Amino acid sequence: MSLSVLMVGSEALPFSKTGGLADVLGALPLALGRLGHRVTLVVPKYRYTQTHGTSATIHVPLRGGGDTRVVEQPLAEGVRVVLVDRPELYDRASIYGMGSDYPDNPRRFGYLCRAALEYAAQSGGTFDVLHSHDWQAGLAPVYLRTRYATHPRIGKMASIFTIHNLAYQGSFPSDWIGLLDLPPDVVSIEGLEFWGRLSFLKGGINYSQVITTVSPTYAKEIQTEEYGAGFDGILSARPTDLFGVLNGIDTDRWNPAADAYLPEPYDQDSLEMKAASRRELLEAMGGRISAEKLQRPLVGVVSRLVDQKGFDLVAELVDQLPELGFSFAVLGTGDARHERMWSDLGAAHPDRFAVRIGFDERLAHLIEAGADMFLMPSRFEPCGLNQMYSMRYGTVPIVRATGGLEDTVTDYNERTGQGTGFKFKAYTAAALFEALERARTAFANPIIWKTLQQAGMRQDFSWDRSAREYVKLYESAIARGKT
Ligand code: ADP
Ligand code: GLC
Repeated sequence: MSLSVLMVGSEALPFSKTGGLADVLGALPLALGRLGHRVTLVVPKYRYTQTHGTSATIHVPLRGGGDTRVVEQPLAEGVRVVLVDRPELYDRASIYGMGSDYPDNPRRFGYLCRAALEYAAQSGGTFDVLHSHDWQAGLAPVYLRTRYATHPRIGKMASIFTIHNLAYQGSFPSDWIGLLDLPPDVVSIEGLEFWGRLSFLKGGINYSQVITTVSPTYAKEIQTEEYGAGFDGILSARPTDLFGVLNGIDTDRWNPAADAYLPEPYDQDSLEMKAASRRELLEAMGGRISAEKLQRPLVGVVSRLVDQKGFDLVAELVDQLPELGFSFAVLGTGDARHERMWSDLGAAHPDRFAVRIGFDERLAHLIEAGADMFLMPSRFEPCGLNQMYSMRYGTVPIVRATGGLEDTVTDYNERTGQGTGFKFKAYTAAALFEALERARTAFANPIIWKTLQQAGMRQDFSWDRSAREYVKLYESAIARGKT
């Protein structure tokens, strides 16, 4: 049966991006479309969002709301995006805030959710499932089950909620309730109430029939105190509603054999061509290029620089790291503390650390192609996309065995020669150090290294498999809604 899905989230390629959510919302609707389903994706139109669609007006019944322009744009057969154009909410320098969150974020994203449901109601179409992503879309199922519960066409939609990151909980003072036109009874322990505040994330979870997260291991981890960020009780109480669906990757956008950002394309049988990307990368990052530097194993990092990503382990190794025989190419932006750590390393050892603070799509591709190894020592990682991009680019990941990193990378076994990367388990600098040493030893043997690279390149991380899993869960949510 062909399903009609209303999807809501805060960022999606090619319209906006700060992290992996944008990659997922850019690719999943298209993968569902290829399976014959219809998808309407509703996201904000931000300052830098380019649109080529047609305008329509919907009425959004929120205080300070009213007539709202939306841009409808087809993306593929059966798949369209609806961009909510409300300049006073979204036409700003950044997506979530400059340095700290914008104080009206509850309104900005509450508005998005309400607009998505109004669009569905006013478009005259039918929808089987509401699929909301992360706290920014958490109020969509809440509105659906309250304000739209008796709507003749959309009131019976099933709801599925995907957690991309439990660390962001959308927690706000409870006086937002009136401003967001939420009925007072949602402020309860079974509703949005969380430690005396409102949590949009909790709303998304509690008002949905099915909850998913982006890897099977993270789905288990978040039911424990260590990884549950206060939600372990809520999630472990619903074990039969919670599923882990591994993200796929966009294999067109991330394809070393046809990547317009690379000086020379390459594949499994022409790995020597990575050298051209390496040279271009080192040139782009600045600094002197010596023969020795071209020989040394190059470790890439492309990341939001936040606590989640494990760079405090790197901070513990600042004295040893420059002596280890690696070079590093680092691209990232985020918390001042982590930015400073990398910038200081770059300033102290310019020959070893090339560091760029900022967001740069081309450089991200060049690092994936030009590096030998890719480092993700995450404290927790719901899925992680860069380790999959790395494997596809013949760049061997060094990762902490958590969440999606555990599920996508197989630890290299020195005895059998099997594996696709290097994993460490304990969240300690010593364990990271040992993984780096193992990687350097393997790198010194070109035959072993090539085997590792090719094993990674053979992995299938395409979206079609994950999209099929979502379809099964949509069907399950629909079935649950009928009982
Ligand atoms: P997260 O969503 O937690 O940031 P993921 O690994 O799922 O982690 O996705 C991160 C995405 O954002 C990847 O596509 C990565 O290439 C991209 N990215 C992160 N930081 C930068 C940056 N500074 N410049 C360009 N791309 C970046
Ligand atoms: C989040 C997670 C990341 C995941 C991404 C897409 O930002 O931090 O691990 O890959 O969402 O699901």
